[in-house]
Amino acid sequence: MVSHSGLLTVMDRAARKAAPRLRRDFNEVQHLQVSRKGPADFVSMADKRAEDTLVEELRKARPDWGFLLEEGGEIAGDPNKPRWIIDPLDGTSNFLHGIPHFAISIAVEEPMGAGGRTEITSGLVYQPLTDESFWAEKGRGAWLQDQRLRVSARRDLFESLIATGIPFMGHGDFVEWSRIFGAVAPEVAGIRRLGAAALDLAWVAAGRFDGYWESHLKPWDVAAGLLLVKEAGGYVTDFRGQDMARERNQFLAANDSIHSKLHKLVANALR
Ligand code: IPD
Ligand code: CA
Ligand code: CA
Ligand code: CA
Repeated sequence: MVSHSGLLTVMDRAARKAAPRLRRDFNEVQHLQVSRKGPADFVSMADKRAEDTLVEELRKARPDWGFLLEEGGEIAGDPNKPRWIIDPLDGTSNFLHGIPHFAISIAVEEPMGAGGRTEITSGLVYQPLTDESFWAEKGRGAWLQDQRLRVSARRDLFESLIATGIPFMGHGDFVEWSRIFGAVAPEVAGIRRLGAAALDLAWVAAGRFDGYWESHLKPWDVAAGLLLVKEAGGYVTDFRGQDMARERNQFLAANDSIHSKLHKLVANALR
């Protein structure tokens, strides 16, 4: 059994502080005030309230750290200190439709020496309705509560369950996604689009999904989830199998065997 570092305890506490209100808002979703940031891009009072609670809690613990927030944008902090990358409610469309699949995602991004390089060193994805807290620290593994996570051990595509995110109105590349889907779907046991990227990645880390692909995501969708997959022994690359996922904004995540098979299919489909 392993316990959180002090920092992860701070993150876990903040998520659990925001969760009761999210659960209440979810149960009364028809009364929530909703606005639109762009085509099919919704934000509700629930997203904003959760974000406010997270910022307040995390700021109490680390007053000089900055933030990158989905709803509030950037808040500058001490540039030599880490900053928080937060998606207060990943899966807003699910939430607004009464579908119980959404999460809070919190990551810590640290400056790595000169040149503006940064690295994600801690991540937490918390699912308020199941009370599941997926967390990872660089070099310390990925965990669900106190249980060590490993990516799935399946080696063959025909028995693997693959998650994806489908482009929607005004977001993503339909042609690219359709080509990949056309190549992958006939080879695998199933494909799921559950609608919360942070959870898709956390579930790859937990071995629930055998693989995942999506593109055109935002830093707060993936920051915590990518660390979870890596610390659970998985691979994340761009669609051509290169170590450029964040740079290219293409994410192909899986265990080693499924990853090498998937990336060949995907690279072929995009040729
Ligand atoms: C969305 C979800 C979804 C993904 C979208 C994201 P949001 O995040 O992660 O799975 O396909 O691209 O925008 O807006 O619900 O936090
Ligand atoms: Ca959103
Ligand atoms: Ca999101
Ligand atoms: Ca969100």
